[in-house]
Amino acid sequence: MLRLGVNIDHVATVRNARGGRLPDPVRAAHLAVAAGADGITAHLREDRRHIRDEDMARLARELTVPLNFEMGATEEMIALAERLKPHAACLVPEKREERTTEGGLDVVGQHNQLVPAVARLAAAGCRVSLFIEPDEAPIAMSAKLGAAVVELHTGSWCHAVADGHGEKAEAELARLRRGAQIAADHGLEVHAGHGLDYDTARTLASTTAFVEFNIGHFLMGEAMFVGLEAAIRRMRAAMDEGRAGRA
Ligand code: PXP
Repeated sequence: MLRLGVNIDHVATVRNARGGRLPDPVRAAHLAVAAGADGITAHLREDRRHIRDEDMARLARELTVPLNFEMGATEEMIALAERLKPHAACLVPEKREERTTEGGLDVVGQHNQLVPAVARLAAAGCRVSLFIEPDEAPIAMSAKLGAAVVELHTGSWCHAVADGHGEKAEAELARLRRGAQIAADHGLEVHAGHGLDYDTARTLASTTAFVEFNIGHFLMGEAMFVGLEAAIRRMRAAMDEGRAGRA
């Protein structure tokens, strides 16, 4: 079974462009679940550029499917996760100046900060996930840190595909497939995300080591043309085709 986690951050991006309360990202979360999402992901950034504290609190209160709380490993965010107790906490690198999460977490360099962060989140009952590059060193370190899950960053592959760089795309896909197997061999649950669309999700789904994809920006863009429900159903179908070996 390959799960689909829907990231609703960009419903909040559109809301915040005008101020006010609409469109409501929590409504999008409920609709995504009705359309077949297995979980909901939201990233509360330090600068609150999209999801806000009250969105996260409502999601934690209202959702009937697992909530994946994406966050930087800061005292503020860890304390909030301890209070809200989401199903999962996914630690991501966060730089103020970046447009989106660029690159995976430096789990080797930040080992000393991550040890207490992972321990506190796990003690709060969260499945701890680390968003990393698909390479042996960060995967091995994630296992050593006691994470239950790694989410492999698919951005380099998706950008290479989108830019038509065939050779680089092939190399990046091989890197992801190898990384997924290494992570599974370490006993980690393996997720993937960043920049996935119908075609890349279908292709990656054929690698059975992956058990969850987290997808946001593309789905929200598609939703403008076909509606959120149709976009999610089509994504679900693409993932199922890929998993069934029809990629
Ligand atoms: N997974 C993680 C850890 C992310 O940081 C993001 C982007 O916020 C995503 C998945 C979703 O990426 P996208 O919005 O490009 O689908």
